Amino acid sequence: MLATRPSAQARALLALRRSAGKNTLSAPGPAEEDIWQLLKVATRVPDHRRLEPWRFIRFSGDERVRFGQKIAQLYKADTPDADAACLAMEAARPLRAPVVIAVISSPDPTHKTPVWEQELCVGAVCQNLLLAANSAGWAGVWLTEWIACHAGIDQALGVKQSERIAGFIYLGTATANPPERPRAAITNKVRSYSELQKD
Ligand SMILES: Cc1cc2nc3c(=O)[nH]c(=O)nc-3n(C[C@H](O)[C@H](O)[C@H](O)COP(=O)(O)O)c2cc1C
Repeated sequence: MLATRPSAQARALLALRRSAGKNTLSAPGPAEEDIWQLLKVATRVPDHRRLEPWRFIRFSGDERVRFGQKIAQLYKADTPDADAACLAMEAARPLRAPVVIAVISSPDPTHKTPVWEQELCVGAVCQNLLLAANSAGWAGVWLTEWIACHAGIDQALGVKQSERIAGFIYLGTATANPPERPRAAITNKVRSYSELQKD
């Protein structure tokens, strides 16, 4: 293996990376074989003590419709006066992209690697998945929304007590290019150790 892989293209991908707007994803999306490749790349992350504290649930085709129905059902149970338009919007959440991948953080709470480190590792998987998708020509966005932290959704997806939904990664073809968004100057976020010692 190589410890470095200098690549101007990779640098440009990283420097100019942007998420797709959540309402700008359409078909086509990655096919089943593409998804396996994306997940293989996505899981090539730093992983303290090789715990692989992640798993995935993928939604495509009708699965998105059925999951959307579940979302609307749970929403209605929480908000009995929700009108039909509102429920239709809830049901349409998974339909915003041809492929949706739920990334589940599945840490081992008994392991000596802290759960926090295991969760960071899963965050890296989510980001890697977006980068893998971008480099393969797919646009994507990482969303949580209320559906990532609702007991009913956890139950519907078999997410255990010790697990959490790290996010839903929506993948497809962008119908619009996202504009740049303001970025905070990195200089405000960094202090050298010498500067700290002066304070
Ligand atoms: C853990 C996590 C959860 C997010 N959840 C949402 C969300 O629910 N809704 C949303 O609009 N953006 C959400 N975002 C932000 C978008 O993924 C994206 O970062 C944002 O639109 C800015 O675009 P950029 O990634 O190109 O900077 C989330 C980001 C992270 C890291």
